[in-house]
Amino acid sequence: MTAAAKPKILLTRRWTEEAERYLCERYDVTLNERDVPMDVAALQQAMRDYDAICPTVTDPINAAVLGTPGARVKLIGNFGVGFNHIDVAAAKAAGIMVSNTPDVLTDATADLAILLLLMATRRAGEGERELREGRWTGWRPTHLMGQSVSGKTLGIVGFGRIAQATAHRAHHGFGMQVAYYGRRRAPAEIEAACKARYVGDVDALIAESDVLSLHCPGGAETHHLINAERLSKMKPTAVIVNTARGTVVDEAALAVALKANRIAAAGLDVYEREPVVHPDLVGLDNVVLLPHLGSATRETRTAMGLRVARNVDLFFAGQPVQDKVA
Ligand code: DGY
Repeated sequence: MTAAAKPKILLTRRWTEEAERYLCERYDVTLNERDVPMDVAALQQAMRDYDAICPTVTDPINAAVLGTPGARVKLIGNFGVGFNHIDVAAAKAAGIMVSNTPDVLTDATADLAILLLLMATRRAGEGERELREGRWTGWRPTHLMGQSVSGKTLGIVGFGRIAQATAHRAHHGFGMQVAYYGRRRAPAEIEAACKARYVGDVDALIAESDVLSLHCPGGAETHHLINAERLSKMKPTAVIVNTARGTVVDEAALAVALKANRIAAAGLDVYEREPVVHPDLVGLDNVVLLPHLGSATRETRTAMGLRVARNVDLFFAGQPVQDKVA
């Protein structure tokens, strides 16, 4: 293949060196050197200039982008497992393939769900702030008492790979009882692996959970699944963990519930309008706020980049793309 014949590929953000190098050695790659988000107009121009765009979860790959007149792009190789930022129907209509990066971020994201679960139940954020601000007066029996998790019920909404890995950690690592709700019941061997009990009604699950961990995809179907009404049905000691998508939770309603101590705490990694976080949440002590770090380990981010690269390789080799979502 001559240099001129190499497919032209745009990476919308910087990747790890190893993943960028892999693609740069094989394709005519443009890197986003300044690593700043691209707006719709820039993405539309890219649709005309490249054979493939490799965007990520913060890029609005909407109908206006996918319907760009004179588009040359034939593959959207998403860096990330979630693809609610991509209008899949518009991609299909335009004859553009979309792929994602499942599997490789499962463990890292499940680890982070457990991190939030423990931080929120053990009031770790409050403790750290107290210490750093010089307010710690020393050990005492009633200081910053949180909640134990052993023997408690972890309710899980959505039971895909990351949810299952979280359930496994919670059950085998921390002795939690796992219950889950999903659109479909998982096969018996998956339930058995973490002794997960299926609850066919999301409201029943929410009411019985000591910790509720959200693992459903974003999108219209799950928008504000956790709203004021559902929050009012939770135990007053309950803790919510969200590593899925911010839109699954009505942040304003969550802030009201946390402020009134209607639930005990929350641990959030994702937000409705990232990078903006609802101002009422920022001022609360009983919420742990992380900046969308679910998959943020060096190993995982490299594996994600190489997984996109595999999809790109298969696509341009004319072979079936395993991670095709549209
Ligand atoms: C994803 O992949 O969807 C995460 O939100 C970022 O890792």
